[in-house]
Amino acid sequence: MIENRKEEHIRIAENEKVDTDHNYWDDIHVLHQAIPEIDFDAIDTRTRFISHEVAHPMIISSMTGGTDLAKKINYNLATAAEKFGLPMGVGSMRAAVEKKELSDTFSVILERKVPVRIANVGAPQLINQGKKSFSDKDIEYIFNLIDANYLIVHFNFLQEMVQPEGDRNARGIMKRLQDVASSYPVIAKETGNGFSREAALQLRDAGVRAIDVGGLGGTSFAAIEYYRAKKAGDEEKMRAGQSFWNWGIPAPASVKYSQVGIPVIGSGGLRNGLDLFKAMLFGAEAGGFARTLLKGADTSPESIQKEISYILRDFKIAMFLSGSKNLKELRKARYFVREPLKTWLDVYD
Ligand SMILES: Cc1cc2nc3c(=O)[nH]c(=O)nc-3n(C[C@H](O)[C@H](O)[C@H](O)COP(=O)(O)O)c2cc1C
Repeated sequence: MIENRKEEHIRIAENEKVDTDHNYWDDIHVLHQAIPEIDFDAIDTRTRFISHEVAHPMIISSMTGGTDLAKKINYNLATAAEKFGLPMGVGSMRAAVEKKELSDTFSVILERKVPVRIANVGAPQLINQGKKSFSDKDIEYIFNLIDANYLIVHFNFLQEMVQPEGDRNARGIMKRLQDVASSYPVIAKETGNGFSREAALQLRDAGVRAIDVGGLGGTSFAAIEYYRAKKAGDEEKMRAGQSFWNWGIPAPASVKYSQVGIPVIGSGGLRNGLDLFKAMLFGAEAGGFARTLLKGADTSPESIQKEISYILRDFKIAMFLSGSKNLKELRKARYFVREPLKTWLDVYD
């Protein structure tokens, strides 16, 4: 059951060690400026997110929907999105198509003034898996359900491979993506394994509006599925989960690889405002946070608002200490990169 799977994902993500072994944002070191010559209170974090003006370059990444718990999480996240003026994604909306009565677990975000709302569908659902795939009408339904500004199509083929009920066909996805991107403003997103330059070029040529790299370094879906397989006693999937736990392209490298002339969102393993600063430094237009926000969102509106206020404050402190009074100056901050990330940056040289 799709609802049970979603609930299990949340519980595992909250309670188990589901991170990759290394967080690659730690390999980036920013040069401290002891004499910043700026007023902290005058720092300007406003920016353009694709074609929207937003207060901060931060996104609440797609996580959930489809259960009562998810409804609460989405509502709490929406309160924070309204308070801080942040774009927000909901999780895969397949549940709302398969069971219309679950629609309010997504549309609950409309109870708050979320400035930019992002719908979500998995790439595997867009093509034939030997069962019914998402029709144009289904896409229209989920897009309108949250009065969306953008549609994320998430590429989670690694997860499909390591989960018991996974979809196995990826053939035809780019043609279908092209169709969808001609009718909707699509953001192509990975879910923890990143995009290569080749993939980014294909996405750009298919007409997507932006790329959310969802790179390696934070939540590992191989890890999440490992725990599910363990509970189910599925030895084969447990093995795959272990083997691919650390598979993928480090998030910062994927931000660099994805510079193909369309906006890039840096995500995967962002834990705090300093990681967000590094994502911006590497050329992202915004940074996406997922699991870092989960516990707070599960607790209360106050708790998630506090968590996000800390992230935004730390981001501003990093701007201050690097002498950056706006995002244009941030991009000129000096830094160096250590291994293992350093070698990843040489791949396309
Ligand atoms: C519990 C949970 C559920 C998720 N569900 C979705 C989803 O439905 N759609 C999607 O595009 N990404 C989903 N993701 C992936 C995140 O958006 C993000 O790409 C990934 O977790 C890496 O970011 P992080 O390291 O900040 O967690 C989910 C992540 C978590 C932790």
